[in-house]
Amino acid sequence: MSERPRVLVTHRVLDPAPALLAKATEVIGYQGELSSEPIAAAAAGCGGILSQSIDPIDERVLSTPGLRVVSNVAVGYNNIDVEAATRRGVLVTNTPGVLDETTADLAFALILAAARRLGEGERMIRAGGWDGWAIDQLLGRDIHGSTLGIVGLGRIGQAVARRGRGFGMRIIYAQRSPAGAEVERELGAERRELSDLLVEADFVSLHTPLTAETTRLIGAAELARMKPSAVLVNTARGPVVDEAALAQALRERRIFAAGLDVFEAEPKVHPDLLGMENVVLLPHLGSASVDTRSKMCETAASNLVAALGGERPEHLVNPQAWRES
Ligand code: DGY
Repeated sequence: MSERPRVLVTHRVLDPAPALLAKATEVIGYQGELSSEPIAAAAAGCGGILSQSIDPIDERVLSTPGLRVVSNVAVGYNNIDVEAATRRGVLVTNTPGVLDETTADLAFALILAAARRLGEGERMIRAGGWDGWAIDQLLGRDIHGSTLGIVGLGRIGQAVARRGRGFGMRIIYAQRSPAGAEVERELGAERRELSDLLVEADFVSLHTPLTAETTRLIGAAELARMKPSAVLVNTARGPVVDEAALAQALRERRIFAAGLDVFEAEPKVHPDLLGMENVVLLPHLGSASVDTRSKMCETAASNLVAALGGERPEHLVNPQAWRES
């Protein structure tokens, strides 16, 4: 009887992933802390780990004897030490593509909510504080006719740019290498240096992966370049923004507002932000639609089953670790 490979599944996953996993693997559930020591202990004897973005998968976890694949239910993989995985021949996979449009919808929701002060209006009504229409009540910023600055024009950034075009915005973007003539033409997008984009944009939306280079990409100096009427939106990863510097800029009204779906030390939020009216705060909901979250789980399960079955998984983050067996 051939034994099915054991797989550590660190959190609940959505249909159809449980059935896909059960068909090809022996699933071990995880009930422990979100730190690497207990995850490593639970992974003993497992050939695969189905992880999520909140699980630290470091050298300790990756040194599990017999571990062949870590499949992350996320497009981002900054929670995994990919360099250590590659060195140890452990495949790392992610779920790109399936969440672009859903995440772009949420980024745009934050643009709208922060610019038009939707959270403040909601809170006012619920607190019984609305006395009626007034000419100067909760005046926001126009979206149509404004300039949308996209930092990182990858798949999600492009999907946000398309929405911006639909709202009559002009698109500029910053990224290390040009997006290519076809993409620029389709989106009417012009490339800028980040420092110039910050000065020119009315809305700055962040869509970079979290790397050593993008950590605190937006700090006090960058915020100081933005217009006092500008809005910053972050649906990428919290550490891309220096949260304390952002709280200070918002407190001093040096920018108009911010919309944040991600934070430096989730689930903690900088305490100053919690008391501010000019920031919209969401609990990392970028990809959180019924269909998209199930597709992410399905993609991650398929990547994992493929890798354990000796097939090259479709979404391989570290192809250098792949060897035909
Ligand atoms: C992603 O896929 O990276 C989402 O942010 C979920 O972590």
